[in-house]
This record gives sequence, C-alpha cells and structure tokens, in this order.
Amino acid sequence: MTTHLDFSARETASGVNSLFIERWSPRAFQPHVIEADVLTRIMDAARWSPSCFNAQPWRFYTSTAGTFDDFLNLLVEGNQAWAKDTSVIGFLIGQKHFEHNGKPNAYSAFDSGAAWMSLTMQARMEGLYTHGMGGIKAPEVADYLKLDTQKFEVIMGFTIGKLADLDSLSDEQRGNEVPNDRKALEQIWQQI
Ligand SMILES: Cc1cc2nc3c(=O)[nH]c(=O)nc-3n(C[C@H](O)[C@H](O)[C@H](O)COP(=O)(O)O)c2cc1C
Repeated sequence: MTTHLDFSARETASGVNSLFIERWSPRAFQPHVIEADVLTRIMDAARWSPSCFNAQPWRFYTSTAGTFDDFLNLLVEGNQAWAKDTSVIGFLIGQKHFEHNGKPNAYSAFDSGAAWMSLTMQARMEGLYTHGMGGIKAPEVADYLKLDTQKFEVIMGFTIGKLADLDSLSDEQRGNEVPNDRKALEQIWQQI
C-alpha cells in the first residue's frame, strides 16, 4: 500500500498545470488551525471571480472554533463522519436576484460555483484542500444563518483542511484516499 498520494489514475494532456490534477477531495484530514491571514487569502481569492453583470451573487459563511460543531451538525451524517477532522466548514449561499434590476439571476449558482473553485485553488496553493458537499441539511442551514430565503439560496457546503499524514491511517482508510479519474477529453469536448 502506498503511503504517498497516487495520481496515476489521472492521465492528462502534457503540460496541464499540476495544480488542477493534484486538486482532489480528501476525507482524511488532520487537526490543524488555519491562520487568519491564510483563510483571508483563500476567501479573498473567491472575491475576484467573474460573474454575470459583475453581480457577485456568492456569500460565504465559515465556521469558527466556537461554531464548528454547529456547522458540523448541519451536514448529513455520512459527511459528518469525515468532516469532523477538517479545520473549517463553510456554506456557499447564492443571491437569487440581481441588485441592479431585481430580476432573477439565472447565473447565481454558476457564478457562485466559480467563486468556490477560486477559493479551492487558493487553498491548494496554501497547502490545504477543500471538499465540496451536497450532503447538507439545506433548510436547517438557511435557518441557522437566518437567511431571507426569498433572496438567498443555500447552494452547497464545503470544508477546508489539511490532509492527514497517510502513514497515520489504517490500510482501509488509506485505500479510500485515492484521487479519482475523469471522462476522456473526447467525451466532454468536440471541435466542430
Ligand atoms: C457540489 C458538490 C457536492 C458534493 N457533495 C459531496 C458530498 O456530499 N459528500 C462527499 O463526500 N463528496 C461530495 N463531493 C465531492 C465529489 O464527489 C468529488 O468532487 C468528485 O468525486 C470528484 O473527485 P475529486 O474532487 O476528488 O477530484 C461534492 C462535490 C461537489 C462539487
């Protein structure tokens, strides 16, 4: 059993930056306090994402040491099992309407997802990992955050944390921590 990350399932075109290939969604995290300036950089990277009409519909709520357990309880049980060891749990919220004209923003979730990916890549550059989660108790999240659900929707949850030392894991746990594959490029891209 390997004690280092095995990216061999991830074949890429030559020259794709390793940042993209070596981003993945671990479940084995280790206790780690993310320094305030590191977390600020991660969140600020999200702020610079593009959005339709530059509306910036994304809102991020992240846990502190004092609220971590509350945030953890807002995940489905399967996610709680591994997310308990992460450093920060967050929820991504989308603003449903444009501020400039009040019309529905069909791109709110799309733009918010792009912002989450920016956050994710800055986290990678800080030596940290994110893990996205659809498995959250969305109505409870909205209540906890006191969201006006006419204006905002809960899109997803995520964690930010430091990968566990693979040597510290059991063989079974280590076997689960293997970056997965993708569809072939030809399946998702055609030049016509
Ligand atoms: C919106 C979204 C929701 C996801 N929901 C969950 C989840 O609830 N639980 C989980 O363990 N992983 C979840 N994932 C992680 C995906 O399974 C993972 O990103 C996908 O299998 C690709 O693997 P990789 O991120 O390791 O490259 C989610 C990812 C995204 C982007």
